[in-house]
Amino acid sequence: MKAVLAYSGGLDTSVCVHILQEEYGLDVITVTVNVGLDKNELREAARKARGLGVVKHYSIDATTEFAREYIFRAIRANGSYEGYPLSTALARPLIAAKVVEIAKKERAQVLAHGATGKGNDQFRFEAVFRSQAPGRRIIAPIREKNMTRREAVAYARKHGIPVPVKKGRSYSIDENLWGRSIEGEELEDPGTVPPEDIFAWTRLRRKKPQELEIGFRKGVPVSLGGRSVPPVKLITELNRTAGAHGVGRIDMMEDRILGLKARENYECPAAAVLLAAHRQLESLVLSRRELRFKEAVDSAWSELVYSGLWTEPLRYALEAFIDRTQERVTGTVRVRLHNRSCEVIARASPYALYSREAVSFDDKSLDQREVEGMLRYHSLQAELFGRLKR
Ligand code: ARG
Repeated sequence: MKAVLAYSGGLDTSVCVHILQEEYGLDVITVTVNVGLDKNELREAARKARGLGVVKHYSIDATTEFAREYIFRAIRANGSYEGYPLSTALARPLIAAKVVEIAKKERAQVLAHGATGKGNDQFRFEAVFRSQAPGRRIIAPIREKNMTRREAVAYARKHGIPVPVKKGRSYSIDENLWGRSIEGEELEDPGTVPPEDIFAWTRLRRKKPQELEIGFRKGVPVSLGGRSVPPVKLITELNRTAGAHGVGRIDMMEDRILGLKARENYECPAAAVLLAAHRQLESLVLSRRELRFKEAVDSAWSELVYSGLWTEPLRYALEAFIDRTQERVTGTVRVRLHNRSCEVIARASPYALYSREAVSFDDKSLDQREVEGMLRYHSLQAELFGRLKR
């Protein structure tokens, strides 16, 4: 029997290959989905998979699809959960969908992933597996064997599977175009300060402030400094530019789906800049009521996606609203990057709901006296309350 495994080339998924072969007696097909890894890591994953004796390995480049269909939706929805710009949560459904595609093509009856029983990723993989390939068997070896990270390392050593370590520590790192997350080891104590060497994208390398103009069309970024740039390139460039200013480092407590609090470290320079810029442009072009209502829609969208419910029908309904609002989210935003911060310093749009004449202290096109009647009604109930004998 064949099993298709979502394979990153990391410790857990490599251990999974071996367990599926030896303990479940399956022919393993590995699928590595590129959502922003560098080419070397992809090649490395393929080499590792073959070394583990898989019957077939697929390497699928989904970076452009990830940017257009996932990251761009997240920007339009200001996708963020408790202050974490959704990144791992965004990529899992796409990876799971590719695994399903391969399983159908290969007529494999088993779908497998390397997520543990403590985290969020099991929910994200399995929701897509169950909704897009109902009835297939799902195996999650790490969870089923109740394996700790230490046991996984020991298992790997025992069976000659390479273990990535850094100064004797083995972090759990997840990385895609939209963000990088580092977990495990001493970071599990929220009272420890993260050592500088866990960070790869946000080392402060530029000391001088830098300004940057981002162009948006219908809620998504399309240009940098006036030159149009395709999605993957735009995000990659911004990760590099903003990362050099140390922008996008997040150290937080996060409430997982299961209710466990977890200490998380993230690096997400491009996301930090683009989400801040997008919000500012929205506040220029959307009405006050649209903005208030959209906050609730955005948070429902984010909660859904964080929880792994990418395939839930509510997402499409929320996006119908979001898309309608984004028709006018076109314009430019200027940001200043300096010393780990990203400030929005200017915004402009042909769809601005802004009237300089109306708001200006130096203009008479609105007669100030006309507001007097409104004032009388505005605080009427408070006035009546104030007159009560208490
Ligand atoms: N807590 C984040 C999420 O659930 C990121 C998890 C990333 N996983 C990792 N092994 N570092 O989306």
